[in-house]
Amino acid sequence: MDFQLSEEQKAVVEAARDFAQTELLPGVIERDINETFPAEQIKKLGKLGFMGMMVSPQYGGSGMDCVSYVLAMEEISKVDASVSVCMSVNNSLVCWGLEEYGTEEQKQKYLVPLAKGEVHGAFCLSEPEAGSDATSQKTIAEDKGDYYLLNGTKNWITNGSSASTYIVIAQTHPEKGHHGINAFIVEKGWEGFHIGKKEDKMGIRASNTHTLMFTDVKVPKANRIGEDGFGFKFAMKVLAGGRIGIASQALGIASGAYELALAYSKQRKAFGTEIMNHQSIQFKLADMATEIEAARLLCLKAAWLKDQHQDYGLASSMAKLYAAETAMKVTTEAVQIHGGYGYVREYHVERLMRDAKITQIYEGTSEVQKVVISRTVLK
Ligand code: CAA
Repeated sequence: MDFQLSEEQKAVVEAARDFAQTELLPGVIERDINETFPAEQIKKLGKLGFMGMMVSPQYGGSGMDCVSYVLAMEEISKVDASVSVCMSVNNSLVCWGLEEYGTEEQKQKYLVPLAKGEVHGAFCLSEPEAGSDATSQKTIAEDKGDYYLLNGTKNWITNGSSASTYIVIAQTHPEKGHHGINAFIVEKGWEGFHIGKKEDKMGIRASNTHTLMFTDVKVPKANRIGEDGFGFKFAMKVLAGGRIGIASQALGIASGAYELALAYSKQRKAFGTEIMNHQSIQFKLADMATEIEAARLLCLKAAWLKDQHQDYGLASSMAKLYAAETAMKVTTEAVQIHGGYGYVREYHVERLMRDAKITQIYEGTSEVQKVVISRTVLK
């Protein structure tokens, strides 16, 4: 078993770390307060090849492996989880799904600009009454011959207003249950496609999360992804990879908070010595470091399995479950180590604690991951 990173993977870490420090750290607090979407930063991330990391160069991507993607996601998420969620959705849910299951025409038209980072995408599955229970899709795509007529509402859509390309999951044959679901590519600006309410969120406040409404939107047949009825399987397959991205985001949030707490413990004095000399702090740091390392290994194992073209559904759910729980625990402890300073914006850890919470919710709650894991181990 080889735990060494390749020279290329080490270079990815360096590039992502450098970008996070120079381009993301300045202004991250203000963007969080003002809910300002980091459009410029995302464009620059795209130019560096981080928005289509695993896409083949033939379609405008960087042709890297999933391990590199995990490494980059950790570094970006240490500093700005609002940027990394945009990066993760574009890489895992949109680009990967299109490259794996799209037609050549769909790849040329949609994947190439997405992978180059010229535009970015959104993945629209959740509905007011279909969150964890993703088979209960109420959005309808009626087959009208050479096009589908799309009607319905999607909720909590990451990149809802900043995206240009939307993958929309909808029910086409309600009588067939989840076998009647399809996935469609929808463009911003099409008649009947409305961007609704922007959510005022606890965390990842600089990312934009919206309700989307579709009223008699004409979707060309050529924009359906895969065979008729493939949509639910498509969503599940895409989400299995997406969970590696969100697990790495959680890992980055945790390791970012840990590094801040570690540095703080070395300079803050209490009771006549730096607080790192108190066993109560040492034990916290030991637990944090151990849990982060375990989360990192789970993320890298899931990514490695994906790179080897082996089944990674179980591993990605385990990584997401553990990394998200770790992010919540570690960020809470990082605030505690900072004391009163941890509770104010200037010290970053309170933002990381708020950002951590969403990793236990999106792309399947912790409970959904436990459903996936328990079903697999009980098989
Ligand atoms: N790969 C391929 N097929 C899969 C699959 C996978 N990983 N997982 C399930 N399937 C297939 C099953 O084989 C089954 O097909 P058949 O009937 O042909 O055998 C079908 O899908 C239905 O599977 P289940 O019976 O297991 O479905 P279920 O209704 O019991 O639900 C669930 C299972 C795990 C709870 C699933 O609904 C789920 O993952 N829910 C959470 C959805 C989610 O993650 N939403 C996130 C929204 S996107 C988001 O958050 C993005 C963002 O903005 C950041």
